[in-house]
Amino acid sequence: MKFSYVSHLHCPKCNQKYDAREKQQLCECGSPLLVAYHLDELKKEFTPELLTKREANLWRYHEILPVEHEENVVSLGEGMTPLIAMPRIGEDMSISNLYMKDEGIIPSGSFKARGAAVGVSKAKELGIEELAMPTNGNAGASWALYAARAGIKSSIVMPVNAPKITRNECAVSGSNLYLVNGLISDAGKIIGQAVNDFSLYDASTLKEPYRIEGKKTMGLEIAEQLNWEMPDVILYPTGGGVGLIGIYKALTELQYLGWINGRLPRLVAVQAAGCAPIVKAWEEGKSVSEFWPDSSTIAFGINVPKALGDFLVLDAIYKTEGCAIAIEDQSLLAEQQKIAAIEGAFICPEGASTFVAARQLREKGWIKDGEKVITLNTGAGIKYPDTVQVEVPILQPGDRIRKNTNSLSKK
Ligand SMILES: Cc1ncc(COP(=O)(O)O)c(C=O)c1O
Ligand SMILES: [Zn+2]
Repeated sequence: MKFSYVSHLHCPKCNQKYDAREKQQLCECGSPLLVAYHLDELKKEFTPELLTKREANLWRYHEILPVEHEENVVSLGEGMTPLIAMPRIGEDMSISNLYMKDEGIIPSGSFKARGAAVGVSKAKELGIEELAMPTNGNAGASWALYAARAGIKSSIVMPVNAPKITRNECAVSGSNLYLVNGLISDAGKIIGQAVNDFSLYDASTLKEPYRIEGKKTMGLEIAEQLNWEMPDVILYPTGGGVGLIGIYKALTELQYLGWINGRLPRLVAVQAAGCAPIVKAWEEGKSVSEFWPDSSTIAFGINVPKALGDFLVLDAIYKTEGCAIAIEDQSLLAEQQKIAAIEGAFICPEGASTFVAARQLREKGWIKDGEKVITLNTGAGIKYPDTVQVEVPILQPGDRIRKNTNSLSKK
């Protein structure tokens, strides 16, 4: 068997095909490109049993990843993150079958490592020597680190308000890092200029085709971890929406291979009330979103006022009969604390938004009794220390402490 069954790139808007062995960015029509595989060929030879002896990382799915030669794989051991039962918070929101896919324990502390591992590996295979990208923090951190491992130079621009630790991750990896007084869309314009000025590989969200393939592995893993039985609902914190597009792509590929059957899970795009362009478009039944002015949210990774792949996100929601929902910052912060206090998981604010969404959709009856529901925690809470305000008493040697009267941890 071959290492990869990659066939070509195709445009989901105008159907034009491109060679996956050449450097490609967007389609001529401006749309992101998607990777196609020889699934018919693969169907004959590829079986779930083949996976059982492989290492517990995302490269176990190499046949349906775009890297053709194993020596180009740049890995820090990413993937196969746990799918954890969340019975106590589940009970609290009347969802008896609640699970969290925990991306907080992956290299660089967020699921962005998946897109970076696959994207950088493919960049290496294509002979790229220097890449550039705008970021809300986590993606830049992951790409800077994986690029360093691959010996590829990186230039990164992020908003000044992005989580501070992500600056350090870029800086420590030797990236050419800048902060911008503005949003990711402003960073994007600056990177666009640099890409033109210095002929760099543009690794912006969806401007190279391979990040989706990395994020797709979340969907492959969820399916494998559930023994190829589909859950009812998957909730995803949606900024650029790459993860949601990727999960949908993964599931349709698995369907084609015959590894999963029946209905696909309803995909839910969770956004912040202060930046909800996909939610607005979905509520209006539209197929593309509009730029969301003056966006702001504490869940920084989902502060994306206009996503290039919005039409793909909306398509995945419509096709799976999912929905889109916006969450207030104060609700997700309260949920973040509650989850840590009753489940012991310190998750990121973006991840917390998916739990609030599950809670609200259950209250509305959209999530039904007994349904299997999966939330995505896309990063580690420890990357966002400022979301937790603490007042800790300082003792003098010999002082005494009080008994724990905290009501949440008793539940
Ligand atoms: C922690 C976290 N969650 C979610 C997202 C949104 O990711 P996507 O572009 O796949 O919508 C980001 C993006 O920066 C992020 O950092
Ligand atoms: Zn096109």
